[in-house]
Amino acid sequence: MLPANTRDAAPVRPATVRVHPKDVVTMSSGSPGSENPIRFSEEHSAEVVEASFANTPDPRLRQLITSLVQHLHAFAKEVDLTQAELEAAVDFLTRTGQACTDVRQEFMMLSDVLGLSMLVDEISHRGPAGATEPTVLGPFHMVDSPPRALGDTISLAPGGEPTLVTGQVLSVEGHELAGALVDVWQADENGFYDVQEPQTVPQGNLRGLFTCDEQGRFAFRTIMPAPYPVPCDGPVGELLEATDRLPYRPAHIHFIARAEGYATLTTHMFVAGSPYLDSDAVFAVKDSLVRDFPLIEDAELADRYGMATPFRHAHVEIRLWKSS
Ligand SMILES: [Fe+2]
Repeated sequence: MLPANTRDAAPVRPATVRVHPKDVVTMSSGSPGSENPIRFSEEHSAEVVEASFANTPDPRLRQLITSLVQHLHAFAKEVDLTQAELEAAVDFLTRTGQACTDVRQEFMMLSDVLGLSMLVDEISHRGPAGATEPTVLGPFHMVDSPPRALGDTISLAPGGEPTLVTGQVLSVEGHELAGALVDVWQADENGFYDVQEPQTVPQGNLRGLFTCDEQGRFAFRTIMPAPYPVPCDGPVGELLEATDRLPYRPAHIHFIARAEGYATLTTHMFVAGSPYLDSDAVFAVKDSLVRDFPLIEDAELADRYGMATPFRHAHVEIRLWKSS
């Protein structure tokens, strides 16, 4: 017979962890008298910490945190992580968070230069053959692109080489996707986004949200984008310098394409021949996304879009797949 005060109390549920495939042991947080308690040690560190998360109600969170603990502990043991290195890492991550603002996402840049953003993108967008390949969002989609009419210019500041971009949004099977939305943004001729130059260019410069016509077609006037370095004046820049890596990205235009019933696609169009196509700091280049921007004198296109000849022109087909 248990005393009343303990008989009515909720039982303490021991956490069960697998220490060895054939040796499941019972954990009880190391309370005195528990059966075969496993104490925290270098050998059993991951198992003990995993056990502390065993009652996580959300199974996906439990899976994520358990795997994270396993890999973190394995990493620390593999490299014999020192106290000073741990403190340096905490300081680095602290400063990474402190560098974030409304128009700068240093943590996303960190994910980008570590290749994690591209890896998650690959995992998340396993499209069928024939679909346009995705690539990272990047750190500069910080403001909503202003809606614009088909054929409008997105260049609101002087300078730059006049360029026409035409395109069409299709299904993988080739159906024209009427009314698809195409969100575009890019750097200017000096490699800067509007959010980096709020004193000199209007917000929304080199950004636009377009609604495709009945044939899924879109067009906009712009200027040639330039290669640019990811911002190097923060912790991510320190990391790139310390590891002797280039911070540059090849010239590109960002796209997000949306159509009802289809998976939203985030991708880039890279400029053929641009420097850094083979050393993109965020690993986003795919051969299928590289486009020529030839200098042309097409009088019919020039008349239709009010371009002075000659001008640069690129055409892109964006093929979406049905969402599940
Ligand atoms: Fe970019």
